[in-house]
Amino acid sequence: MKADRPPERPPGFVYRSDKRLFRKPEPTLYAEQVSLAKLAERYGTPLYVYSATAIRERYREFDGAFKGSEHTICYSVKANSNLTILRLLARQGAGFDIVSGGELHRVLEISHKAAARTVFSGVGKLAAEMDLALHTGILMFNVESASELELLAARAAHLRKRARFAIRANPDVTAETHPYISTGLHEHKFGVPWRGVWELYRRGDSARYLQAAGVSVHIGSQITEVAPFREAMERVASLVRSLRTDKHDIRYVDAGGGLGIFYEQDNDSPFSKLAKQYAKALLASLKPLGVHLLLEPGRAIVGPAGVLLTRVIYRKRNDGKQFVVVDAAMTDLLRPSLYDAYHEIVPVVLRSNAGAREEVDVVGPVCETGDFFARGRQLHAVEEGDLLAILDAGAYGMALASNYNTRRRPAEVLVDGTRVRLVRRRESIRDLLAPERT
Ligand code: LLP
Repeated sequence: MKADRPPERPPGFVYRSDKRLFRKPEPTLYAEQVSLAKLAERYGTPLYVYSATAIRERYREFDGAFKGSEHTICYSVKANSNLTILRLLARQGAGFDIVSGGELHRVLEISHKAAARTVFSGVGKLAAEMDLALHTGILMFNVESASELELLAARAAHLRKRARFAIRANPDVTAETHPYISTGLHEHKFGVPWRGVWELYRRGDSARYLQAAGVSVHIGSQITEVAPFREAMERVASLVRSLRTDKHDIRYVDAGGGLGIFYEQDNDSPFSKLAKQYAKALLASLKPLGVHLLLEPGRAIVGPAGVLLTRVIYRKRNDGKQFVVVDAAMTDLLRPSLYDAYHEIVPVVLRSNAGAREEVDVVGPVCETGDFFARGRQLHAVEEGDLLAILDAGAYGMALASNYNTRRRPAEVLVDGTRVRLVRRRESIRDLLAPERT
């Protein structure tokens, strides 16, 4: 039985047998000290459950890997933008990476101080968003085109606010990841081609309210090898040297985000080790420059710290194929549908008579063939009414949720030891219909 135990995600999610409750307790998946079965009963399903300890631990390990080098972690808000999670990270000292005025409003909601540790990325910043960021006094704008630089210069002059900027340079580095989330090649829409970068710094420095302060890159997401990061940083380091020769005062290097997690069970190596390798890869060429390093991790901090809890509604067999229909859908967790992404799916209660595994498709109720969480997956046999946990759903889970099929987005719960907090209530149908007029 032991060898066949489903994967766990310590310190957030582990199986426990609570002997105080039953004489022969069945191992049950817990979020820290709280049974997921209890949470499902209390808050209903589908339900996102996050572990505060897991988030703090990952943040500390990531931060610790850069100890001794001047740096700021600007957590990438897009990965999971729940206000309570942002506040938890701000308390650890995090700044933020934002891509919209909306995300900046979230940061301001939880901490005005953190705004000074915030960088603004994205290819399509609007004038109103720039204005808000200028009034707020964010740390830096990561500029992605000549037109954007021009607009930023105009807005900064209009408001008489100084804007520190970095050009997001496209290093043309290949990173092994899904094509939809790889960004560092010249064929992608992101960043400015290397050869065009110098000209933009010149233009920027000649604008009265702009100040060249850094260089930024982001080569993609869910990258689990450190070599592409090392390669990109070597290019960045030589760019910084050359810009300094041109008398630009480059004090910051924003290395972007993108460090991946291991969605499949086969990696036992602790996160702290990968974080150290990552830090070493970045610092190898940056250390001699004495720059302040900015990092924009999202997934690596919150990914494994969240699960999506769902209940089996029906089992059905179509021509020999076994389907498990659950109450969560692609509207709650889009990654399998959009990227064919793999997420472990485990039973919340490990029944002693659970016996063999069987091959099933785990699907949601939405009217799309693409509405699945797993296809042809060997799972512990499940019955109607059973609870399943979809692991590693803390990043780009709730953040990508939608109301397709007029489905309410799930509630979110944060567990910290024995403490449980509902950090977002389940939407009501009234919430969904409110903006519409008949
Ligand atoms: N910085 C920039 C400029 C980014 O574009 C991103 C992610 C990040 C930081 C954070 O990347 P992370 O450390 O989380 O990999 N929805 C996709 C991921 C899209 C990533 C977009 N950019 C997914 O579910 O895999």
